[in-house]
Amino acid sequence: MSDRNIKGIRALVTGATSGIGKAIAQAIAQRGGNVLATARRSERLIELAASSDGRIQWEAGDQTDATFREHLIASLNTRLGGLDLLVLAAGVGGIGRFETSPKESLESMLAIDLVAPAELARNAIATLRVGNRPGIVFIGSILGYQGFPLHAEYCAAKFALRGLANSIRLELQEDSIDVMLVSPGPTQSEFWNRLLHGSRPHWSRGLPMEASQVAEAVLRGLVKGQREVIPGFSNRWFVRASILFPRLLDRFIQKVSQS
Ligand SMILES: NC(=O)c1ccc[n+]([C@@H]2O[C@H](COP(=O)([O-])OP(=O)(O)OC[C@H]3O[C@@H](n4cnc5c(N)ncnc54)[C@H](OP(=O)(O)O)[C@@H]3O)[C@@H](O)[C@H]2O)c1
Repeated sequence: MSDRNIKGIRALVTGATSGIGKAIAQAIAQRGGNVLATARRSERLIELAASSDGRIQWEAGDQTDATFREHLIASLNTRLGGLDLLVLAAGVGGIGRFETSPKESLESMLAIDLVAPAELARNAIATLRVGNRPGIVFIGSILGYQGFPLHAEYCAAKFALRGLANSIRLELQEDSIDVMLVSPGPTQSEFWNRLLHGSRPHWSRGLPMEASQVAEAVLRGLVKGQREVIPGFSNRWFVRASILFPRLLDRFIQKVSQS
C-alpha cells in the first residue's frame, strides 16, 4: 500500500456499531477523516455520528442485502464526495462441532463474512479508482491462517477472505488501489456475545486485545502503506507458527481447546 494521510480521507466503514469497526471509524474521524459508517443498528450509528463533530455520517442496513449494498456504494458521491478508503469490518462468528452445527449457519456465515465484503469491494472499485490514494481494508482473522476446532465455518470464511484479498490486491495494482488484510486475534468486542451459534470458548477469555488497539494498528498500517497487519506480538507468532511449525501448532491447539 502507498503511504497515506488520514486527514481528509473519505472512508466507508462497515461494522461500525461496535468493536473493531466502530474503533476504526472513530480513529479515522479523530484524525480528520470523513466517514460513512454502516451496520444494522441505527440507534448506535446515530450516537456514533453525534459524538464525531460532524465527521461521521451513517447509513443503516444489512450487508447481506444486495440492494442495500448497491444503495450504499451509490450514495458515496453524494454523502462523501467520493471514496478513498473502504474498511470491511462487519463480521460474525459461530462455535460448535461442524457435524452437528445448524445447517443454515454455514451459509449465513459465508454470506456475512465473505460474500458481503467481497461484493462491497467489487461494487466500490469504480468509485475508488477515482479516489485519492485509494485502498480497501479487509478485516480477516488469525483463523484465516490456521484451522481451529469448533470454528470450521468461521475459518472457511476467513481463509477465503484472505485468498480474495491477496488475489484482488494483484488485480487492483494496475488501478493503484491498495488492498490491506488485517488479521486480528481475540479482541474485546461484542463478537463473542453475538455468535450465530454456540457460546464463548474459555481459551478466548485470556488477555484479548482492545478494539482500539486493533484500530490503531490498522491506522499505522495505512499510514505506512503496509499490505498486511497482524496486531499483537502473540498473534504474529501464532501465524508464523502456522507456517513454520504446523504440526506443533495443531498439537498445541488441540490441547488448549480441550483443556
Ligand atoms: N473479536 C475478535 O476476537 C475478533 C478476532 C479476529 C477477527 N475479528 C473480526 O473482526 C471483525 C469485527 O468484529 P468485532 O470483534 O468488532 O465484533 P462485533 O463487536 O460483534 O462487531 C461486529 C459488527 O458487524 C456488524 N454486523 C454483523 N452482521 C451484520 C450484517 N448482517 N449487516 C451489517 N452489519 C453487520 C455489527 O453491527 P450490527 O449488529 O449493528 O449490524 C457490528 O457492528 C469481524 O470481521 C470479525 O470476524 C474479531
